[in-house]
Amino acid sequence: MADFARVLSQYVDALAVRTFAHATLEKLADFASIPVVNALSDDAHPCQAMADMLTLAELKPDLAGLKLAFIGDGNNVAMSLAEAAALLGVAFVLACPEGYEYPEAFVQAFASRFPAASLAVVHDPAEAVAGADAVYADVWASMGQEHEADRRREIFAPFQIDEDLMAAARPDAVFLHCLPAHRGEEVTSGVLDGPRSRVFQQAANRMYFQMALLESLVKDRSAADRLRF
Ligand code: NVA
Repeated sequence: MADFARVLSQYVDALAVRTFAHATLEKLADFASIPVVNALSDDAHPCQAMADMLTLAELKPDLAGLKLAFIGDGNNVAMSLAEAAALLGVAFVLACPEGYEYPEAFVQAFASRFPAASLAVVHDPAEAVAGADAVYADVWASMGQEHEADRRREIFAPFQIDEDLMAAARPDAVFLHCLPAHRGEEVTSGVLDGPRSRVFQQAANRMYFQMALLESLVKDRSAADRLRF
């Protein structure tokens, strides 16, 4: 991996890496002399979270004080959204089945990185969406967890986002999803394709945000060292 990072550093201006083990990214970043962007790992999906905050900022006049409810697994997307929310003053709550909370290592790291923020976790989706400005879903089985999909479908069934759950959020609440979505599992097609859904605006912002990120990293290489998460 170290040799791979050093060789690729001669060929290209930046690496965007989608992988499983976060340690792979860390190793590449340690040995590459070019920026290494986390395009998704088991532990984090920061590009998604940053683009999502851009979408929220387009939809709502002031990010600080907004409430974002994530209904599903305490996974890579949830962890990165929790961090982005803490950075930007957005209240973030995860509603998940028992046993699918954030990994303990993340809870510890979050507490030391954001001592003033709290990591809200509940097990009742209705409680999470009360007062929410945005309701967020991700797949129930992430990449690499396909063998758990059947079991997860049963466990997560009460966490499906449907019209009734959206009705329990603020009247102007929007629905977000990092895509790809499974209609009829984590979200009904009525919500995903309905008037509150902003998922395609959200998907478009992935391109704009990542263009801006790459430009800033390539222009100012020291930024890649300052921004390690
Ligand atoms: N949690 C999902 C996100 C997909 C964009 C996964 O890791 O597969």
